[in-house]
Amino acid sequence: MKESIKHMSAYQAELPAEVVKAKYGLQHLARLSANESVYGPTPKVAQAIKATPDDILGYYPDGQATALREAVAKHDQVAPESLVFGVGADELIQLLTRTVLTPGSNIIVPDPTFGEYAMHAQIEQADTKKIPVQPATGQLDFDAMLEAVDDKTTMVWLANPNNPTGVFEKRTDILTFLDQLPKSVVLVVDEAYYDFVAEPDATVARDVDNYENLVVLRTLSKAYGLANLRVGYGIMQEPLYGVMQAVRLPYNLNTYQIVGGTAAIDDQDYLNQVVRKVIEERTAFQTFLYENQFTFYESQTNFIWIKVGDTKKYGARLLSKGYQVNDRLNAEWLRIALGTPEDNRGMQQVLLELKNA
Ligand SMILES: Cc1ncc(COP(=O)(O)O)c(C=O)c1O
Repeated sequence: MKESIKHMSAYQAELPAEVVKAKYGLQHLARLSANESVYGPTPKVAQAIKATPDDILGYYPDGQATALREAVAKHDQVAPESLVFGVGADELIQLLTRTVLTPGSNIIVPDPTFGEYAMHAQIEQADTKKIPVQPATGQLDFDAMLEAVDDKTTMVWLANPNNPTGVFEKRTDILTFLDQLPKSVVLVVDEAYYDFVAEPDATVARDVDNYENLVVLRTLSKAYGLANLRVGYGIMQEPLYGVMQAVRLPYNLNTYQIVGGTAAIDDQDYLNQVVRKVIEERTAFQTFLYENQFTFYESQTNFIWIKVGDTKKYGARLLSKGYQVNDRLNAEWLRIALGTPEDNRGMQQVLLELKNA
């Protein structure tokens, strides 16, 4: 076994809602710990999956996910032959790491950020340099990230907006950073939460054409409400595109993922409705936090990162009231995904009671 992973602990996956309800004796449980969508996907996804004839089951799926490829290319205005599909963005993170990193190389990530970038680097026996975000705003420290680049650096990972902070960086700032990176360093901009951004010019997807070392990741797990279907993709140009296509498993997406994912992309009216509701709730929640003097970062996502002091105390109280949030990431900061309007008001009540206790 590789020395670097002998003591690695397993990812703490979410427990099924029924298990959590039974464990804590809850009637109602709002699962708001994994940034999923409380609105779910458009009903057209299930309709498309159910309409798929059973006789496909005995045959391998379309290894190029052609229908989904065409739908995504059209919607994102990118070339179909720049898209690599995966079992969630997770699989793209794994594959990119596997493709680019060698033992002894290093990656640069903001701190905090999504844990999988460092986890996969460790599996490939590469080091991770964590560059703290700016404490007051949660914005990235691009200068410090550039300074951290050395001759062993092969990748920089930015989640934009970032998880768990929810903080968004402008396209122009990302491109200025990219222009200063050595061409040998791959910049991955993970746009898992892109759909929730209420700012213009929020994506670097169409800049991939101009940079061989830029990769953009997207997922249908968040705004499209399809965390269970496991569909994500990367946008990149040659030579990385060809190598990634060669490295990925030939039939990584099954037909239900392809058909369901295509139906989701095709229903932009539904997506826009979800995004509108999330932004409305985010604005209301942040107004509440501001008015009650909580410390938090301005979010452009479907979750908010709040400094509460004793995270476990807040997490336990919220759970006892039926709100499962993420209290495992930081001792002082809690990550709360936005729920239904009713659940959001309920959580605010609990937060206020604890703050005033
Ligand atoms: C920043 C970021 N990237 C990627 C993922 C993984 O998404 P997927 O469900 O597509 O694997 C997540 C999931 O929470 C995330 O927060």
